[in-house]
Amino acid sequence: GIVRHYKFDIELKKVTRLCRTRSIPTVNGQFPGPRIVAREGDRLVIKVVNHIPNNVTIHWHGIRQLQTGWADGPAYVTQCPIQTGQTYVYNFTIVGQRGTLWWHAHSSWLRSTIYGPIIILPQLNVPYPFTKPYKEVPIILGEWFNTDPEAIISQALQTGGGPNVSDAYTINGLPGPLYNCSKKDTFKLKVKQGKTYLLRLINAALNDELFFSIANHTLTIVDVDAVYVKPFKTDKIVIAPGQTSNVLLKTKPYYPKATFFIEARPYVTGLGTFDNSTTSGILEYVTLESEKPSSIKNLKLFRPILPPLNDTAFVTKFTNKLRSLATPQFPANVPRNIDRHLFFTVGLGTKPCPVNQTCQGPNGTMFAASVNNVSFVQPTKALLQAHYFGQSHDVYTPDFPTTAAPFNFTGTPPNNTVVNNGTRLVVLPFNTSAELVLQDTSILGAESHPLHLHGFNFFVVGQGFGNYDPNKDPKNFNLVDPVERNTVGVPSGGWVAIRFLADNPGVWFMHCHLEAHTSWGLKMAWVVLDGKLPNQKLLPPPSDLPKC
Ligand code: C2O
Repeated sequence: GIVRHYKFDIELKKVTRLCRTRSIPTVNGQFPGPRIVAREGDRLVIKVVNHIPNNVTIHWHGIRQLQTGWADGPAYVTQCPIQTGQTYVYNFTIVGQRGTLWWHAHSSWLRSTIYGPIIILPQLNVPYPFTKPYKEVPIILGEWFNTDPEAIISQALQTGGGPNVSDAYTINGLPGPLYNCSKKDTFKLKVKQGKTYLLRLINAALNDELFFSIANHTLTIVDVDAVYVKPFKTDKIVIAPGQTSNVLLKTKPYYPKATFFIEARPYVTGLGTFDNSTTSGILEYVTLESEKPSSIKNLKLFRPILPPLNDTAFVTKFTNKLRSLATPQFPANVPRNIDRHLFFTVGLGTKPCPVNQTCQGPNGTMFAASVNNVSFVQPTKALLQAHYFGQSHDVYTPDFPTTAAPFNFTGTPPNNTVVNNGTRLVVLPFNTSAELVLQDTSILGAESHPLHLHGFNFFVVGQGFGNYDPNKDPKNFNLVDPVERNTVGVPSGGWVAIRFLADNPGVWFMHCHLEAHTSWGLKMAWVVLDGKLPNQKLLPPPSDLPKC
């Protein structure tokens, strides 16, 4: 591989959407941010300079960061934030990955505007295991807020209520013509007839899983989270925040004399308020000079039919179709002999309202969220530094509960919904093969939670509804061709089982990628210890690592 250099200047930029102009944090004044393009095996050196008043960090979502945990990015987990006027150089190599990933800010809610694609091409002269596309197009789904998301979350955390929802969803930063005052802010995909396009889909939205579809066109899924899958055709997709997917779009073999809407809107299982609007872009066929779309009157316009907002049946069917290629060239190395079985509940809960305050959460309490009833408390020093320099004692405790106190997780909620607070971690020796069951709870209503694990890909070996049964459910696990990914939706009112090999020393964050839930504490971290060999050890920190 080669070394590729990028410079990210984090700076404010005036951007207008829905007729509202806001000064928003951006990278290099771009919204969405610049593309990173590299090949498998390349080294990326990205110099980040912070020119905005907020502390900031950048996370390279889905990049494994083998031995380079210092470049992973979550604030107070692998690094102290980059303060105003400071610089930090992220330096890492892309090992064994190709496809689409993305980068985003990883402190507070700054990722609402600081995000962009990471395009990883296969090594030179290595073909895709599918039709060579005529063109490749990144499509990033996001959210637009008319007011500052930083103010929204800080107010929500103070009052204990649910944060205000966004004002629009976006495709490549553009809300599209279904919103007021947004006609000119429409993403247009101009295509030729009879060609194959590779769409690199990313869900960068803060708080919503999204359905996606293009009217009158079939999509072929070929990869998720930068791992190839057995291709299958579908006309609709569901994609959770954090997830990515490469899909092939084959255009019609003739000039269709029509335009087609590209649309996305949320998949919602929770009880809270949400933005139920629809973002749209336009797929437009270009043809011979004489038949330019503009010269053809009354082009027909088709809209796709998206699933109903709470269509869990569709989501289950769709996710069950995702399978690893499992070929000699792209094997599914599913861990077989499990060293550690872990069971985590994920869900919402409450914190008591402070005295002399009125709170806007359930029954006058404050909203909270937890993993195994531990609501993660962000430390004031970075966990990775504390671990590496042997100063863990005043920053975290290594006693995260690896199983849940039993109750009927998906039944009538218990009377006591109060969570515990803590900065507690699970410690795994190098090369532990781990199986983790993530169980949704119905404590404040069952809800799908897209769980993201940093530093690893994992295999999704099983999923189901109701309470996980350790005696029955493992018999149906797929150990042959389970999908491999970095972010998985825990089904609403159900569970998912994942397996991974702890072959990457460092401290690795795991959290719900719905930002409201992360803010409420639905997050935890793992410590993976060094192995014996030199290539099994975390490298020393770079000299410009920010201080807290
Ligand atoms: Cu895409 Cu920890 O995040």
